[in-house]
Amino acid sequence: MGFLRLITVILFFLSGAAWGKEASALTWRGLHVDVSRHFFEPAVLKQLMNRMEALNFNHLHLHLTDGPGWRLEIRKYPRLTSIGAWRKQLSSTTWNWKEHEIGSHFTHCYGGFYTQEEMRQLIGYGAARGITIVPEIDLPGHAYATLVAYPQLALEPPPACKLGRDVLAVEKSEVRRFAREILDEIMAVFPPGTPIHLGGDEVDPSLLSMEQQRAFMQEMVDYVQSHGHPAITWDEAACNGVRGQWVMLWRAEQLQAVLDLEMPVILCPNSHFYFDYPQHQSEAKPWEHVITCETVRSFKIPDHPHILGIQANLWTEHIRTPEQLFRMAFPRASVMAETFFCEASGAPASQNE
Ligand code: ACM
Repeated sequence: MGFLRLITVILFFLSGAAWGKEASALTWRGLHVDVSRHFFEPAVLKQLMNRMEALNFNHLHLHLTDGPGWRLEIRKYPRLTSIGAWRKQLSSTTWNWKEHEIGSHFTHCYGGFYTQEEMRQLIGYGAARGITIVPEIDLPGHAYATLVAYPQLALEPPPACKLGRDVLAVEKSEVRRFAREILDEIMAVFPPGTPIHLGGDEVDPSLLSMEQQRAFMQEMVDYVQSHGHPAITWDEAACNGVRGQWVMLWRAEQLQAVLDLEMPVILCPNSHFYFDYPQHQSEAKPWEHVITCETVRSFKIPDHPHILGIQANLWTEHIRTPEQLFRMAFPRASVMAETFFCEASGAPASQNE
């Protein structure tokens, strides 16, 4: 190869021109499951990973905490799972967040959680299939289950803090200690280099000012990164000035704003990759956005040097059973893989692989 040609090829790769537009450059090929709204047993996640492996997905993002349930054993804070992983079984099967009552004292309880040992087994199962499990602890909002277990961490005590008001009182030193100690245990369970998702979405600025949110999230991002784990946040935190992390773009209308930040980004826009949305017009309510296989296929990955990859999200407010989970995931996940992942085999997932 002539010298000039060699330089051109090197410049092409250094410029990142191959990122984003070539499917083969997607180092993040993710599927997300919300195990808080409804809990899925380890066997179900293994079944899902079998399908993911066949389709060349390489990251399983688990939304482990949210208002309706905390799903990972934390030994220093046992009430997170003895109380926060359970709730009153509602007589109606329809999702009704307003009526959920957290606790293990009800005669009929719904819930569950992963022990640290079960999570280690899942991590090993995934690694054997080229899949990195990425834990998400959603901070500082979506914390109702946490706050019922430990009301002293709340800005407003339960039950006043329900329905979007469930935020941690981030100014309290015990809240920051709590968050760091949770992260310490998570970093002991997940292999070195595993990305850790810190949430950061949907916190009402009338409860926590944007500066309070920014400072808290920055502290947590720095904490995780200083221990050798890439941190991830939802796009709100990045748009609010938090720096140093990978960004997960979910608000489709923020795509350009997030790309302009020139931070590493994973795209899961709710316009194309929210697989809990109905997949056929016939099953959608009039106000619902439908995401068909064609919608998935039509996504255009921007030609941008900072795009790490794409991900589909399965929020589970209305997904109660493994059968429903698989019905919502497929065939859209297969279409996603066929459209975007065909050339991606062999690309490394995360640093722990
Ligand atoms: C999100 O859908 N709130 C990330």
